[in-house]
Amino acid sequence: MTDPWLPQTAVLVDKVMETPEVATLALRFADPEVQQRFRFDCGQFNMLYLYGLGEVPISIMDFEDDCLLHTIRAVGRISRPLVALEPGARLGLRGPYGNSWPLEEAKGRDVVFITAGLGCAPVIAAIRRIIADRGAYRRLVIMQGVKHREDLLWQAQYDRWREVPDCEVLLAASEEKKAPFAWSLGMVTTLIDKARFDPLNCTVMMCGPEPMMRASMKALADNGVALENCYVSLERNMQCALGLCGHCQMGRPFVCKNGPIFKVPEIQDWFLLEGY
Ligand SMILES: Cc1cc2nc3c(=O)[nH]c(=O)nc-3n(C[C@H](O)[C@H](O)[C@H](O)COP(=O)(O)OP(=O)(O)OC[C@H]3O[C@@H](n4cnc5c(N)ncnc54)[C@H](O)[C@@H]3O)c2cc1C
Ligand code: FES
Repeated sequence: MTDPWLPQTAVLVDKVMETPEVATLALRFADPEVQQRFRFDCGQFNMLYLYGLGEVPISIMDFEDDCLLHTIRAVGRISRPLVALEPGARLGLRGPYGNSWPLEEAKGRDVVFITAGLGCAPVIAAIRRIIADRGAYRRLVIMQGVKHREDLLWQAQYDRWREVPDCEVLLAASEEKKAPFAWSLGMVTTLIDKARFDPLNCTVMMCGPEPMMRASMKALADNGVALENCYVSLERNMQCALGLCGHCQMGRPFVCKNGPIFKVPEIQDWFLLEGY
């Protein structure tokens, strides 16, 4: 990153509409030198800037074909026009910001991902790194929850992950009447009891709605997992992304600077207070 305040111009190279409201944008910096220098760690985010409108924090889904991928749900003032951009459009991008998933610490351990909704996007790069370095980790368990089957992004990728040695993929749909083949009915938390992993030697990474992560923490603790080995990625309203404006502050930590990924014991005092 050069000047952390200065958005660099990025060009929308390609867009995939994953669902009517969710798009994956493939972005490349207009300046090849900036493109060449850009590095990120799995779990970090960028600030995407629509000129004249404003900025939003969006996780880096991955880097493919020389493009940075961001998967965005159109929810409001900035995310809607971002999702509506067409290839060739220019926008501002500054980053990467924040910390990353504990991929080094997880080596030699079972790795468990628990995500729901669009919480799957910030873990995609981490799962791919683990699969690319399969021998360094033990069992890999991937759990994802959605409301309806058609809300699941990247079904083909989840199917491919089922073929990876010692990798278990568990999917749950909370608002289906009948479980689709190889799925479970209910919230993603109901999968925790079904998953096979070593509770005494695992690292858990979670991303999704906060009630889901709170319920998962409880289910993990009931299954004998020490919360010391569990990580959550948090979302808060952000303005500066540099630990200066205070918009994302939660107790002592700033989500932009000290997070977005936190070891559960660092935040559990206030995270367990619903609505904090
Ligand atoms: C570290 C970090 C990483 C993020 N990564 C992603 C990502 O990869 N993809 C992505 O789509 N979003 C991600 N977000 C969330 C994204 O930043 C917000 O959705 C975005 O800021 C909304 O801005 P807006 O101006 O479009 O909506 P606003 O106009 O500010 O909000 C419009 C309405 O949408 C609601 N809203 C705002 N955010 C969300 C949300 N996340 N989910 C549901 N409703 C919401 C608001 O309460 C409001 O009612 C991330 C946030 C953080 C902090
Ligand atoms: S966004 Fe300004 S302090 Fe975190």
